[in-house]
Amino acid sequence: MSQNNLIDGRAIAAQIQGELTQRIAALKARGVQPGLAFVRVGEDPASKVYVGRKEKTSGELGIFSETHVLPEATSAADLLKLLAKLNADSRLHGILVQAPLPKQIRQEVIYATVLPEKDVDGFNPVNVGKLMLGDDTGFKPCTPAGVMELLIRSNVKTDGAEVVILGRGNIVGKPMAAMLCQKGRHANSTVTICHSATRDLKAHCRRADIIVAAMGVAEFVKADMVKPGATVMDVGVNRIADATSKTGTRLVGDVAFAEVQPIAGRITPNPGGVGPMTIAMLMQNTVRAAEQAT
Ligand code: GUN
Repeated sequence: MSQNNLIDGRAIAAQIQGELTQRIAALKARGVQPGLAFVRVGEDPASKVYVGRKEKTSGELGIFSETHVLPEATSAADLLKLLAKLNADSRLHGILVQAPLPKQIRQEVIYATVLPEKDVDGFNPVNVGKLMLGDDTGFKPCTPAGVMELLIRSNVKTDGAEVVILGRGNIVGKPMAAMLCQKGRHANSTVTICHSATRDLKAHCRRADIIVAAMGVAEFVKADMVKPGATVMDVGVNRIADATSKTGTRLVGDVAFAEVQPIAGRITPNPGGVGPMTIAMLMQNTVRAAEQAT
């Protein structure tokens, strides 16, 4: 199949950001500027890049943002103290603590501390629970929400579709399954979550109408795992060695793109697919948090 089976995440993210510009202008007319705090602990290179992109997009949209960088050795108590301050700061409508966190900090304690109404990441147990209950008043995690938006805006039919999700993580796999199996026109899928203990993963994949690859293994999904015409959503970001590149490495997804693209009905490029949507959905959650706070 030709190039035109691509699901262009950059274009769809730009469209969403265009919609947000109007909502941000309306807030500003009422004297409110949406505000977002980023918290990064340690010097994980990928986290630096991700937070940097989120800061940049915030600035472009006119969302106020501030970034707090704490050293790798930070204690949970120090991080909780910072979160108490951010929770109480009325200029801030959203708070994002970039994962992964260092080993001495229990992630679940941190995410439970971010106020549910400022939890634009959708990681607080209240928002996780609302997602499971199909209660749309909560915030949904940005990456799976971005995949949903790509499917909807690309007219990929999920109603009755067989979906295979590769990966069972809290950030993508599990919330993705909750969104897709929800009753509703833009969901209603039959969802299978595959993971490291799945027997005959290839057989599951081969009967999928939609594959969401989010297990973090470079170029794992090969052509012989994909049913002709299936939609393939690649969430992975993996750095692999590449002697031909200046840096000696390059980023690839969880899908072997070159061999899968000709077989897939629709496919996300990577980069330029799911990644930009994660940021667009974070911006959307932040604007909604600001609207609801005022
Ligand atoms: N690390 C990888 N993805 C995410 C995300 O969506 N939010 C946060 N906070 N950390 C992440």
